[in-house]
Amino acid sequence: MIDSEALIARAEGLVRSARSLDALHEAQVELLGKRSDLAAARSALGKLDPSERPAAGQKLHEVREQIEGLLARRRSELEEELRASRLQADRLDLTEVPVKASRGRLHLVQRTRDELEDVFVGMGFVVAEGPEVETDWYNFEALNMPPAHPARGMWDTLYLDIGDPETVLLRTHTSPVQIRLMQGQGPPIYAVMPGRCYRRDTPDARHIPIFHQIEGLVVDRGISFADLAGTIETFTTAYFGPDIHSRLRPSYFPFTEPSAEFEATCTICKGKGCRTCSHTGWVELGGCGMVDPEVFAAVGVDSEEWTGFAFGFGIDRLAQMRHVIPDMRILLENDVRFLRQI
Ligand code: DAH
Repeated sequence: MIDSEALIARAEGLVRSARSLDALHEAQVELLGKRSDLAAARSALGKLDPSERPAAGQKLHEVREQIEGLLARRRSELEEELRASRLQADRLDLTEVPVKASRGRLHLVQRTRDELEDVFVGMGFVVAEGPEVETDWYNFEALNMPPAHPARGMWDTLYLDIGDPETVLLRTHTSPVQIRLMQGQGPPIYAVMPGRCYRRDTPDARHIPIFHQIEGLVVDRGISFADLAGTIETFTTAYFGPDIHSRLRPSYFPFTEPSAEFEATCTICKGKGCRTCSHTGWVELGGCGMVDPEVFAAVGVDSEEWTGFAFGFGIDRLAQMRHVIPDMRILLENDVRFLRQI
């Protein structure tokens, strides 16, 4: 007869050490299968005296039931473990951005604008903004260009079909924001005014009809042309680096007197002369000058007490220069091969 206690102890060991459902199945075959000790004992029953058979048979039946119980319990444990590990593996970790996802970035013009703002804020200016839809008065008249003034021809204007003909327009420059600032807060003013502008221009390598400017305005007591020149020079070296300088050349704008164009050392040839700068070593950046007393009069600032200077230049043009972009139209095209390089 078999030693049922030893068999059960062995079964417990085998079942406990089974770490997977497959391993448990193997243990089951070994304990209950055709070649198991239990099966052998079962076939040996026939050799027993008939009077002993029922008790021995009953004993074997109990042992088998115990082993089956051990197997069943271990099976449900292993199934539970498997289910838990599958759940764990299926969990999505939403806190981690997949490494491959591509990130967006700011457009070159926006980045240039941010950098310009930083430079001017570092010099003590505040940043102000104004509307893109303006009235004729803000865009022209208050800037010393009465109706039919010939200088209006410097800007090809897009008018809106609102109110009387040619009274509401898309601003052609950021200079109307000067007017709004002087009217609103009054002097002293140390401000830069970046923003989008529009002109009825045919796009080409150096012109786009929707572009950006940054305007500067300083109004205080005793402001002179030397302050203007110094501010332009400080800005130029701060933005481009110490080997790029500025110079002013006489020019004309209706809202400044005297007026100048300001130029910077050509960033391509560093002033030696190349095709980009027409062999002059200088590239034009924008316009500037001392605020015309007529402009002060339009906004009610006393030009006996206050003087000031203003300047304005194209942000897109500046980005084109600094990043050596051959054709400006790419700034409006949203071609990701261009945008990604920034
Ligand atoms: N508004 C001028 C333009 O669009 C640029 C400009 C010139 C701005 C002289 C100024 C200035 O503030 O003083 O061409």
